Amino acid sequence: MARADVRTSPEDITAAAIASFDRSEDARLRELMQALTRHLHAFACEVGLTQDEWEKAVQILVETGRMTGEGRNEFVLWSDTLGLSMLVDSIANPKPPGATESTIMGPFWASGAPHREYGDAIFETAAGQPALVHGHVLGLDGEPVAGAEIDVWQNDADELYAVQRSEGPEDHLRGRFLTREDGSYAFVGVRPVVYPIPSDGPAGRMLAAVGRHPWRPAHVHFMISAPGFEQLVTHVFVAGDKYLDSDVVFGVKDSLIREFTGHPAGRAPDGRMVERDYFHLNYDFGLKQVASNARAA
Ligand code: BEZ
Ligand code: FE
Repeated sequence: MARADVRTSPEDITAAAIASFDRSEDARLRELMQALTRHLHAFACEVGLTQDEWEKAVQILVETGRMTGEGRNEFVLWSDTLGLSMLVDSIANPKPPGATESTIMGPFWASGAPHREYGDAIFETAAGQPALVHGHVLGLDGEPVAGAEIDVWQNDADELYAVQRSEGPEDHLRGRFLTREDGSYAFVGVRPVVYPIPSDGPAGRMLAAVGRHPWRPAHVHFMISAPGFEQLVTHVFVAGDKYLDSDVVFGVKDSLIREFTGHPAGRAPDGRMVERDYFHLNYDFGLKQVASNARAA
């Protein structure tokens, strides 16, 4: 019997590639692979992808892999700069009223930040302008969450996070705090500054090629965990920052922007004497309880 002709129109190729996953026993994997194939093929057709462009794209992926290792993940930078990280975050973390919105984690968190006491400084060496940061961690009904762990990390006036320095104290400008009975927390950091994301790799070259800048608006990172509550990963951004409307990784949400108010040296609101001009930030975080069936699991 004569064999049926192999069909080779673009539509036939796409249909065959999608159908090749039909027998996957893992339904979710089948859904992911078929949708990925459909969208990739639609992209190639829409832009009329040339052989040259396809080869360049493969080369970029090879280079992205080569740059990725411990301490640097160029794939995540692509995801960040294409807005995919924030899209996945917004799909995964819908927030009810009263819950603080999440944002991107970024590459500069490291486990094992030192435990510090209420009101402690998080800097280890002479740093940028001091910032007194305080507030509460609350549940959705405004009830205090006692014993919540706040893991905080931020950059210094030289734009760098501790993990980016080859020398210098590894615990500089990071720390873990527990909230008090009334849900309160306080620490002394520094006023964060704007900084460019690592742009010496393929993702950075893409930004330059399309005329995008690599800058993030100034912010402090927070990761807050408490039993019975969903973990919150977020930032607080400095109001008035020139990059709030063009964050290279699309991480800004209005509810996360707050004034860092400037004060002359003297007695701070918590009674301590501060010898330099300083900034003051007050921010309350709202945590969402984990669903009761998830808690029972
Ligand atoms: C950060 O905020 O630390 C960050 C986020 C995404 C890419 C690079 C840095
Ligand atoms: Fe950051």
